[in-house]
This record gives sequence, C-alpha cells and structure tokens, in this order.
Amino acid sequence: MIEETDEYQWHTGKHRPSGAAAAVEFVEVHKAFGRNKILRGLNMEIPEDKISMILGPSGTGKSVCIKHMVGLLYPDSGDVLVHGESVPGMRDEELFEMRKKFGVLFQDGALFGSMNLWDNVAFPLRQHTDKGEDEIGDIVNRRLREVGLEGSADKMPNELSGGMRKRAGFARALVLDPDIVLFDEPDSGLDPVRTALLCELIQEIHEENGGAYVVITHDIMSAKRVAEYIAVLWKGRIVESGPAEELFDSDNQFVNQFLSGASRGPLGME
Ligand SMILES: Nc1ncnc2c1ncn2[C@@H]1O[C@H](COP(=O)(O)OP(=O)(O)O)[C@@H](O)[C@H]1O
Ligand SMILES: [Mg+2]
Repeated sequence: MIEETDEYQWHTGKHRPSGAAAAVEFVEVHKAFGRNKILRGLNMEIPEDKISMILGPSGTGKSVCIKHMVGLLYPDSGDVLVHGESVPGMRDEELFEMRKKFGVLFQDGALFGSMNLWDNVAFPLRQHTDKGEDEIGDIVNRRLREVGLEGSADKMPNELSGGMRKRAGFARALVLDPDIVLFDEPDSGLDPVRTALLCELIQEIHEENGGAYVVITHDIMSAKRVAEYIAVLWKGRIVESGPAEELFDSDNQFVNQFLSGASRGPLGME
C-alpha cells in the first residue's frame, strides 16, 4: 500500500499567480464515483483572458473538471466558482443563465447528425436568443468564415473530415460570444499537422475575441504551442500551476518529466 505522503510527494502545489482575476476557481474540491476517488482536494484557478491548459494523463479527471465548471457534475465537498459565484449553490434558473457564459467544444465536435453544418452552428442562436434569421445569418457566416468552413455550410456532419467537424464545433461554441470557452481534448484523433493548425486557429480566434480559454489535453506539443497558463493535474490535485514559461522551467521532477514527455521519472505506468 502506497502511503498518501509518497503518492503526493511530487505535489508541491506550487501556485504562481497569473496576475489576472479568476474566471473559474476550484476550492478544495472532492469528487468520487463510488469508491473511485477522482478529485481529492483540487485547488485550481483558471485566469481571465488567457489560454489556459489543464494537462494530465488519461483518466485523471480532466473531463470531470470541465463538467464541474458547467454544473453537469457537483462536488461531494468544496466549491466551484465561476466569476466568483458558487456553481453548486445555484438554482436551476441561475445555472441556466450561467451556462450561457460558456462555449464548449467536445471531443468529436458533437454535431447533430441530422442537421447540415449551417443549422448546427445556428442552433444555439435559435435556441437561446430571439434574434431574427437575418442577424443569425450574419453571425453564422462570420463564425464559419473564421474557422475556414464558409464553403461547407450545406454539408452534413458525416460528409466532413474529423478536423472539419472540430472546426465546426468550434464555430458553434463561439456563436453566443461566450466569456469562457472549454475545449476537451481538441487534438484527439488529429494528426500532428492538423493539430498544429487547430492550435493556430485557437490562438487567432482568442486574439480576436478574448475571454478565458480552457484547453484540456494530454498532448505536450499543443501545450507548448498555445498555453499561456498551465495547470498540471495528477491524482486528483494540482501538482503545479502557473504561467507556461515558468512551468516549462520547473524544477519539480514530475512536472519536468511530464512536460518533456520523457519515459523516465516519477511518472510510471499504473
Ligand atoms: N459519470 C461517471 N460515473 C462514474 N465514473 C466516472 C464518471 N465520469 C468519469 N468517471 C471516472 O472518472 C475518471 C476520470 O475520468 P475523466 O475525467 O473522463 O478522465 P480524463 O482525464 O481522461 O478526461 C475515470 O476513471 C472515469 O471512469
Ligand atoms: Mg477526458
């Protein structure tokens, strides 16, 4: 049996403030599914107006974190704050309003298979606003142009490549002008070239629109390319977090091993 102190020996918990106000904060969050403890006293800050990355091996609870931010999962204890407001404490109507702050890009783009690309991107506007079709048209065209899909508006999701589906999901995530955009493993299933292009697109669109972007990935190359702020999640807690350049320069052996993708170090197969 591994002692907790051994298990957490790499968790210095070192937290270097980003200098920005927090868009999202996790405060001592615990979450278990049955006996499977996933978050074990998670303290994490997602700064306003930056591209943040939550990095961690598969199965560590990265997607579980995202679901806590939008109130799809609730902590067993601790708190999750969005712009300073406690998500678990929200009533249904408050939760509904709070969710409008978020744009979410799921792993496969999560498009509706029965709608063409244009209608997929228009969907949140028709669902959540009372904008007329002209205004909706302007917004959808602009977002499709931004992600380079203006020529594919009539296509059905199954006629699009994996990379195009992700870009379409990205366009749809942006139509309500979200304050916070969540990307759950946007690079999954993409080859390195398409991953690089998607990273560039994320950066460009962030520069244009601002907001807090939260990119979840286990891909270090993506992190090197776009992260301004990094939180390394492992065993339910943050090992270290801070501005990207400082994390890439960390003297923590675990962070160092993980960010260099090395096979030797404290992080072994488990
Ligand atoms: N709704 C759920 N019910 C039970 N177990 C879950 C649920 N969601 C996630 N888990 C478990 O939590 C762990 C972390 O999952 P996840 O957050 O998806 O990992 P990742 O870091 O790869 O995104 C996994 O062991 C997964 O099986
Ligand atoms: Mg996941």
